Amino acid sequence: MAEPEQSAVTRTDRETRHGHRGAVVWLTGLSGAGKTTMAGALERALFARQVTVFVLDGDNIRRGLSSDLGFSATDRRENIRRIAEVARLFADAGLIAVTAFISPYASDRDRARRIAESTEAGPGVPFLEVYVDAPLSVCEARDPKGLYRKARDGQIAHFTGVSDPYEPPAQPDVVLHTGRDGIEVCVQQLLAHLLPLIAK
Ligand code: ADX
Repeated sequence: MAEPEQSAVTRTDRETRHGHRGAVVWLTGLSGAGKTTMAGALERALFARQVTVFVLDGDNIRRGLSSDLGFSATDRRENIRRIAEVARLFADAGLIAVTAFISPYASDRDRARRIAESTEAGPGVPFLEVYVDAPLSVCEARDPKGLYRKARDGQIAHFTGVSDPYEPPAQPDVVLHTGRDGIEVCVQQLLAHLLPLIAK
């Protein structure tokens, strides 16, 4: 492949425009653990602080870019790869990309980090792996979409936590105990880790 062209607008130009650096905040955890809730709460908190932020989640990715993918290991891997590449582009554009996907496989999350931190096509961007850690029993009791019940009934195959694996992060940058702590406590925890990373 030819050398990537230098963008006419530099990283520094974008940081000056936005008032902060770009970054990827990668939320991982079981279905029903609170990833989407946390992503939304973080998005509002950052937006209120004049930070340019965008959330990638099942609603805007699985219905569009990944609409051809299901939940086999191969499809999840490809889903996560696409999201990681999009998140990197958002961060290159100077935004905070917050991603809210189960991303059950450690190797896929490691690849997402490598994509963010890669210096091949320009300076890398900070990557924060956030484990949204609620016990399976709590997620299953919440069952907001009734999917755990269907999975237990055998109506959904390969359901994460029931008939498909979830590999918890070995060394997450942040662990949110969403089964125990309130949303505001978790948001403050996230901000404490993120704000120093994106300061210019
Ligand atoms: S991932 O594994 O590829 O990261 P993703 O976060 O996009 O998954 O989608 C998970 C959501 O899809 C769940 O919250 C649930 O609503 C729905 N879903 C449908 N089928 C499954 C399944 N077999 N396993 C997990 N989630 C599923």
